[in-house]
Amino acid sequence: MTDVAARASAGFHQTYGTAPAGRWAAPGRVNLIGEHTDYNDGFVLPFALPLRTVVAAAARDDARWTVRSELSADPVEFGPAEADAPGRVTGWAAYVAGVVWALRAAGHQVPGARLAIASDVPVGSGLSSSAAVESAVLAALVELGGLDLPADRWPRLAQRAENDYVGAPTGIMDQSAVIRCRKGHALFLDCRTEEVEQIPFDLDAAGLAVLVIDSRAPHRHADGEYAARRASCERAAARLGVPALRDVATADLDAALARLDDDETRRRVRHVVTEDQRVLDTVELLRAGRVAEIGPLLTASHASMRDDFEITVPEIDTAVEAALAAGALGARMTGGGFGGCVLALVEAAAAERVATAVADAYAERGFAAPGTLTVLPAGGAHRLD
Ligand code: GLA
Repeated sequence: MTDVAARASAGFHQTYGTAPAGRWAAPGRVNLIGEHTDYNDGFVLPFALPLRTVVAAAARDDARWTVRSELSADPVEFGPAEADAPGRVTGWAAYVAGVVWALRAAGHQVPGARLAIASDVPVGSGLSSSAAVESAVLAALVELGGLDLPADRWPRLAQRAENDYVGAPTGIMDQSAVIRCRKGHALFLDCRTEEVEQIPFDLDAAGLAVLVIDSRAPHRHADGEYAARRASCERAAARLGVPALRDVATADLDAALARLDDDETRRRVRHVVTEDQRVLDTVELLRAGRVAEIGPLLTASHASMRDDFEITVPEIDTAVEAALAAGALGARMTGGGFGGCVLALVEAAAAERVATAVADAYAERGFAAPGTLTVLPAGGAHRLD
């Protein structure tokens, strides 16, 4: 397939008959560790993928927005009335309208624009294709409109597009990763303060690789499970009298659990509190250059998601088990859950063996063949030319 940037330009030209004023790219992401901790004000450690979404764009004189995507034959056009009414624009174009809405709601003069979107980030695999679209569109509109909006404020705006316009109650991780990640690094993000530290994650130097395994099991936030987990965490924090579960220290976990009266809530809380600690432990190891040693933390994170947070599915657990049995140093589901992708940390020389073992396990169980990709940490949203 042609390069994604060339496809964005071609799409622009085909739809609008001229060349774009510029192209802006934003990547997909995987989360190395720290799942369902972001909306609990906790810690996450994602990195950006080499797969990107590119938006080719040019300003127009009137306050209207026309968007073309590879996902659909027809462009979508909307004006201020639709942009200002959350939920009015639906489908893939909602992520674009959501960004226009979030910018306007924050008081910015958003320029009208023509946009064409092309993407190599698969949709529905839990690799943040939506955050990639939001962030590339945001970067384009900020620059085309000369808006006074420093990049460290972009993640909250893109998150508002998703929460309040599209209606998905997600946290701040995906947009932060897509915007703030740097090549060769994982992004250690404190989701309460939005402070970040770029943590070197040099897989090549350690002789390691990260395999991203697409379970092909449909990834469904929208079915309410994600919202239910979030609500359960918020109720638990209220019962414990803390602003968020991040405020339960690891040392106080047992005492906190003893104050909760149902087992399900106890398990949800235990996942979040132990997962925050695993992020901190992973960061310590990576700071010390002990990359291979993070494997057991990844695997423990998976067990916690499977047993305590209950967000995995058989395809996902099969991929993790098969990868570990074939010698992966650690493996876990990444992203919101109920499908999506698994990441496995492997010796570089073992990558193919592990990928084959997962494919064999899928065939044995009668699952659709998984997708596998070896990835290195890439950079965040930026202008291309
Ligand atoms: C999805 C959400 C994120 C985060 C993860 C789980 O990717 O968009 O905000 O909550 O799930 O860690």
